[in-house]
Amino acid sequence: MSSKINLHSSVKLGPYELPNRIVMAPLTRNRAAVGNVPHDLNVTYYSQRASAGLIVTEATQISPQGMGYPATPGIHSAEQVAGWRMVTEAVHALGGHIFLQLWHVGRISHPSLQPDGALPVAPSPIAPAGMASTYSGEQPFVTPRALTLEEIPGIIEDYRKAAQNALEAGFDGVEVHGANGYLLDQFLQDNTNHRTDAYGGSIPNRTRLLLEVLAAVTGVWGADRVGLRLSPSGTFNSMGDSNRQELFTYVVEQLNPLGLAYLHLVEPRADMNPPVQLGAAYFRPIYQGTLISAGGYDRDLANQTLAAGEADLIAFGRLYIANPDLVERLAHNAELNPYDRNTFYGGGEQGYTDYPALDSQLVGSN
Ligand code: FNR
Repeated sequence: MSSKINLHSSVKLGPYELPNRIVMAPLTRNRAAVGNVPHDLNVTYYSQRASAGLIVTEATQISPQGMGYPATPGIHSAEQVAGWRMVTEAVHALGGHIFLQLWHVGRISHPSLQPDGALPVAPSPIAPAGMASTYSGEQPFVTPRALTLEEIPGIIEDYRKAAQNALEAGFDGVEVHGANGYLLDQFLQDNTNHRTDAYGGSIPNRTRLLLEVLAAVTGVWGADRVGLRLSPSGTFNSMGDSNRQELFTYVVEQLNPLGLAYLHLVEPRADMNPPVQLGAAYFRPIYQGTLISAGGYDRDLANQTLAAGEADLIAFGRLYIANPDLVERLAHNAELNPYDRNTFYGGGEQGYTDYPALDSQLVGSN
């Protein structure tokens, strides 16, 4: 009976049997080493959170061009693969499961972060509002360069290679980042995609790149070890579409025959001012596979959502930043550590690996 399902019920996800339905949401923390390489500090951070049913890593660039923020990790060099291998081995030694989030930021970048100081690329030459994060502080976004039709196979190939690298790094799967206004979302939505070729105009044309990327990545991993994240109600990074409901309904219908490991939805609640209410409750009857829902969950809302059958797993973001043992705390309905926004992005151990676990508090150690 679905009413018995809660956060601590086991669940099958692709080929994996997970001990609980608690997902660590992808969280950019800007703490990779020089060369965008994961290092010991990141190993400690992910190890501390290995009791999650599933960890989805921070967004990780598929290519140098895919980078948009300082000190974010990549998965395009041998050093990065070796760094990530340390992370996956440590998480596996603790019995955890970990998927890598594959990321190309598109226009959400700055020439100072791009190879040879190039312009960031996008479906169309339209600048986002606001400021880019760079190594020398915030700087206004520039107008990106539109990708040519001839360049698109190269982007898909970068996703395929990154997926292959993730396999070599020992991950259990990958999550394609189609959310939050980055490259694939920029192709989907019509305020960022003004193309007139096969990748613009109609909804099927705007969905084409996403589906081609999924085909390339599932070609490496098999569909049952590939997830996809979407944010149909999000306005982050200046996103907008003339008909989100029609667009995202079409997108999700196209996913059904693929047999992905999961679809990961960001709830409208996660947006400051959502223009539509397209979350798990809307997509549940449309999507036939496993659904992960993220955005503004606490223990009660998560359990209610699972019991109602609106989602199969729940992802926690900010609560996971501050509570490495979130699984145990939620099991005992224990008090949660508050998170500190000032240490979300960048820095060292502080606000990253120094949030205490419950048992260390109880026994008074550490
Ligand atoms: C995020 N989020 C995010 N999403 C994503 O798809 N890839 C990412 O790398 C990040 N990075 C990130 C960093 C930080 C510091 C925050 C706070 C958020 C969004 C995140 O996964 C989640 O959807 C939101 O935080 C909403 O969930 P909570 O925090 O309300 O549980």
